[in-house]
Parts: sequence; C-alpha cells; structure tokens
Amino acid sequence: MKIAVAKELDPAEPRVAATPDTVKKLKALGADVAVEPGAGIKSGIPDADFTAVGATVSADALKDADVVFKVKRPEASELAKYKRGALVLAIMDPYGNDAALKSMADAGVVAFAMELMPRITRAQVMDVLSSQANLAGYRAVIDAAESFGRAMPMMMTAAGTVPAAKVFIMGVGVAGLQAIATARRLGAIVTATDVRPATKEQVESLGAKFLAVEDEEFKNAQTAGGYAKEMSKEYQAKQAALTAEHIKKQDIVITTALIPGRPAPRLVTAEMVKSMKPGSVLVDLAVERGGNVEGAKPGEVVEIDGVKIVGYTNVAGRIAASASGLYARNLLSFFETMVNKEKALAVNWEDELVKATALTRDGAVVHPNFQPKTA
Ligand code: NAI
Repeated sequence: MKIAVAKELDPAEPRVAATPDTVKKLKALGADVAVEPGAGIKSGIPDADFTAVGATVSADALKDADVVFKVKRPEASELAKYKRGALVLAIMDPYGNDAALKSMADAGVVAFAMELMPRITRAQVMDVLSSQANLAGYRAVIDAAESFGRAMPMMMTAAGTVPAAKVFIMGVGVAGLQAIATARRLGAIVTATDVRPATKEQVESLGAKFLAVEDEEFKNAQTAGGYAKEMSKEYQAKQAALTAEHIKKQDIVITTALIPGRPAPRLVTAEMVKSMKPGSVLVDLAVERGGNVEGAKPGEVVEIDGVKIVGYTNVAGRIAASASGLYARNLLSFFETMVNKEKALAVNWEDELVKATALTRDGAVVHPNFQPKTA
C-alpha cells in the first residue's frame, strides 16, 4: 500500500495534506509513504521532518502510488502522473467543474471530495469544511485588526481612553462563531446575525449580541441538514433595512454567509459600505463564492472612501501550518476507514461516507449529484 503526499501545484496553496504526525499513523496502518520534495515547506514542514518519521522524499513519489493525498483537485498535468485506479483524497471543488471531473474520470482515478463528507457524528473528525472554516473565522478577525487603524480593546491610559472596536459578524456558522470568539478575546464589542434561529443562543453564549428580523420565515429558515435556506426577497429587504442602520455604527464587519450549492447572499450593499466611517474595515469570507459585500474582489483589499474591503482568498491557508495540521488529521481519519485489519486497502463502497464523497470511479463520474448532463 503506497501513499503519495503531493506538493501543491497552485502557488497560492500553501497547505499540505500530511504532517509528520499523520505520516507516523499512516505507517502504522501498514503504508509506505512517499512525499514530493518541498511539499510541506510552506506549512513549516521541511522534507527532513518527513524522512525522520520514515517517509521517503522523492520526485517520483506519485509513481505507482495507490493513494494520493492532496489539498486541491489535481490538474491534468498531475493526473498524467497518477496510476489508473489510484485513490485521490482532496478538496475537489466539484460544483460547476464538470470538465475537471471528467478529466479525473478519464484518468481512471477514484476521486474523493472531502468537502462532501456528511456532517454526521462519525464523520466530524473528517469534516474539512469545519476544520478550515474555523481557522478562516479566526484569521478574518486578525486580518481585520491588521487593516484597522485603531485598537480592538478598550484601553484606559494616562493619555486618554481608547474605545473598544465594534465588530459585526454576519453569518454564524463555524467560521462566524470562531470570528465572534476571536473578536471577543481581543476585547471588541461584538454583535452578530444569521437567518438560522438556532444561532441566537450560540451567539449569546459567546457573549455577543444577536440581531435579526425574527419573523415566521426566520423561525423556519433552517433545513433538516442544519443549513440556511435561501430567504425570500421580502425577508432580505427587511434584513437589509435592519442591518443598514447597524452597519453605519460598526468599525469592523466580517461576513461569512453561505448557502450550500448557491451563490453567496449579498448582505452588504455599496450604499452600506459608504455609510461606514473612514478607517472601517469589512472582511468578506464568502468572496470566492460570489461575495456577501458589494465591491469585494477576490484576492484584493479594495479601498472606497477610506473604508477597506478585504477579500483574501484561501483564508485558512493564511495560517497554513495550523490549517495543514487539521486537514491532515481529517484525511487520515477518512483513510483509516479504507484499511482493513490485514493492513490492506479495502474501500467499502457501500459505506455512506464513501458514497457521499466518491466523485469518479472506473473511468466514470459516479456521484449522483454530478452526472454529466445528457442533451
Ligand atoms: P455555511 O458555511 O454554509 O454558512 C455560514 C453561515 O451563513 C450559516 O450559519 C448560514 O445560516 C448563514 N447564512 C446564510 N444565509 C444568510 C443570510 N442571508 N444572512 C445571514 N446569514 C446567513 O455554514 P457552516 O459553517 O458550514 O455550518 C452550517 C451548519 O452546520 C451549522 O449549524 C453548524 O453548526 C452545522 N455543522 C454541523 C456539524 C456536524 O454536526 N458534524 C459540523 C459542522 C457544522
């Protein structure tokens, strides 16, 4: 059983899919682990740390690998190096990427999309969305603080008092909850909003104030799976009126609102941005999915009349060592379900985790949600 840990091709991807800690555990499962040179360096892991735990570091790591651990979906040039039938575990970004799925099918690999892992108790330890969103929520507050020309906590000094910053978090999923906790730790006055009623108590338990239009639609805004529904135009208008007044008075706004399989909801209009004081900062964590803030640009910090809109992408990657550590544990935990007592690869194709995440197999796209459209 040969596992390869790939070096990411994308120069903007600093994460790596294994750490010395997970390599040790993979070896204990009976695997030979080969790492591409430099794979971990941007996450603070030199090649020597991998060899120290028994991995080989080689430019040929992918050759003959039965399993490939990656962060991002492999591109065509990478697939050309993979063995047919190889299992590939990565964040596959499958929505709207039919051609890329087809090229993985054509390469004969078995691609598993880690982000499709069901959010059930057994799979919590494999949940890459949560592990990475949690870190992104933390980092969003740090990025906001970095762009903000004032202090976060209240400081009473001999030279006068510095007021506490007012921080508003929009969208209170995994990222938003961590953003609230981080902003509170820094001493900010924190408010938050979400369309799911269950979040109210969570926000309050973190010492922040909850703000939302709590009408009948709000009371039913959570799907059975625990996600937000797309809200009606009427609700969105009421929500916008409420938040517009609030945003005017905020120093920092952090948006994290997402609806699975849909573009991110537009929560902050250009007019609302304009209503903020110069020096205020918005951080849009949804920028890669269309953005919650009008005017946010992926990968850029835009400044409009002294208000900054921070649109960094791959925010978890901005704390790459932590992100790789958690991601590698997610992958290891999933992979452990694919190895039998004889220390051999034994994928159980009937396992709900496998069914939910397997995109391609035997030369075809097998996931029901991503079937090629027939004309
Ligand atoms: P997400 O990343 O899909 O969305 C972020 C947040 O945006 C959500 O809280 C959503 O309600 C909110 N949102 C959507 N539209 C909005 C709007 N118009 N205005 C304001 N907010 C809006 O969510 P995430 O972080 O993936 O978590 C979703 C749910 O799944 C949460 O309830 C979370 O606790 C739950 N969860 C369960 C897990 C498990 O049981 N294993 C693991 C992780 C999360």
